Amino acid sequence: MNRRTCNLYKALKLAEGSRCLRDNKWRLAYHLMPPVGWMNDPNGLCEYKGVYHIFFQYSPFDTKPGLNYWGHYFTDDFIRYDYVQPALYCDSSLDCHGVYSGSAYTEENEFYLFYTGNVKHEGNFDFIKEGREHNTIVVRSKNGIDFENKIRILKNSDYPDNVTCHVRDPKVWKEDGKYMMVLGARRKDNTGEVLVYSSEDMEKWKEEREISRENLGYMWECPDYYKLGGRYFLAFSPQGMEADGWRFQNIYQSGYIALDKDILSVESLGGFCEFDSGFDFYAPQSFEDSKGRRIMIAWMGLPDLEGLYKNPTEALGWVHALTIPRVLSEKNGRIYQAPAEELKKLRRNKRGGRFSKYVEYTHKGVFEAEIYFDVSSEFKIDIYDGCRFEYDGTFLILKPGRIGCGRGERRYKCENVVKIDIFADKSSLEIFVNDGETVFSSRIYPDEERGRLCIDGIVGSIDLWDMDSFYYNPDKMSLPF
Ligand code: FRU
Repeated sequence: MNRRTCNLYKALKLAEGSRCLRDNKWRLAYHLMPPVGWMNDPNGLCEYKGVYHIFFQYSPFDTKPGLNYWGHYFTDDFIRYDYVQPALYCDSSLDCHGVYSGSAYTEENEFYLFYTGNVKHEGNFDFIKEGREHNTIVVRSKNGIDFENKIRILKNSDYPDNVTCHVRDPKVWKEDGKYMMVLGARRKDNTGEVLVYSSEDMEKWKEEREISRENLGYMWECPDYYKLGGRYFLAFSPQGMEADGWRFQNIYQSGYIALDKDILSVESLGGFCEFDSGFDFYAPQSFEDSKGRRIMIAWMGLPDLEGLYKNPTEALGWVHALTIPRVLSEKNGRIYQAPAEELKKLRRNKRGGRFSKYVEYTHKGVFEAEIYFDVSSEFKIDIYDGCRFEYDGTFLILKPGRIGCGRGERRYKCENVVKIDIFADKSSLEIFVNDGETVFSSRIYPDEERGRLCIDGIVGSIDLWDMDSFYYNPDKMSLPF
């Protein structure tokens, strides 16, 4: 570690030991959060030697995005976690204003991280067309904890002429013996696009093509690419899309388009489909594990929310979280999301049964409720006092009410509602609809953890469990919670 890295590490530890975290209000039981300060995108998701690694954009000194690190949790079961030192620090001239998002590529004994080094020049620039560097960088590790040897593989002058300085968030994979990479970009004509590169050796990269589409925003962040059920999908998080009726209501979107062929030969792009219908979901990333599952995790939050809605944990010294891991599958050309099976191990104290027209249960604020309806018809479900999820026969509607801190309502048009699965965790909700056709992911901030779950107007059955907490290994680096 050089002196700057060492200082950045010490500053982080001081921040993590700060008093703000003695207040546990709204800290989540079974979601990953920043130890202190600000968290955004999940990064570098992968499985290496049987262990899942979850890195994240981390700014510990404030509850706003700032000087960042790649924070690092790992787990072998998605229940027990280790928290270790950051994998990346903004400690070089290639990344001094941020170790931005990226991905992992692993082989049997090699662990690589690809990320964007953000550099802002001194001066009066717009920082879009000038004054900024977005370097694509690779680092390597043997043990999955210590990463070294930052090598810049692409710089702004390597990217095509029609793009601005905003080219970031590399996602790397291997296909047919070649390394492949997608990068998200903003074109000079304010259209978002994805750049596709290939390489034989991970150091020299060749531009293969650009994939773009009118009316899908000015910048495509955090691209991802994979095959599910025999179909190819390009996922990304576009900024600058207009709302369209009940769709695209959040400040920025996250979704995917189906491709007619693989990424090198694709000719026609399908429609853009959002992953999530809630208030707090952005920058998802995915990886394939050794069981063959494609697992996606997203940031349960969004940037630039000033004037829209609030996260009152800011006053307690931390903000944001990641979603639970979701296993992706393809059905009729669409991506479905199912909660990872591992979370079932957190279920405790099962209750429930059949209900007809009305039923209510008390809960302790950390629960899962799997609800099946005999026939699809209108219902109202109160999850916490004032927070309602309802179906009016056409739309599913989430109205967090007062505890939404400015979150009004979000809708999803649905012809047939047969099942919902609610994951509630003190200050978060993830409501899976019809086994993952969509999910409503939202933060909510109830005054009391305990509450009542009331189902009204419909016939069906419910299984309700309290959920246990994640376990953080105290033998490794100590966490302040
Ligand atoms: C998405 C994003 C990425 C960027 C990172 C910086 O939320 O803006 O495009 O790499 O966050 O923290």
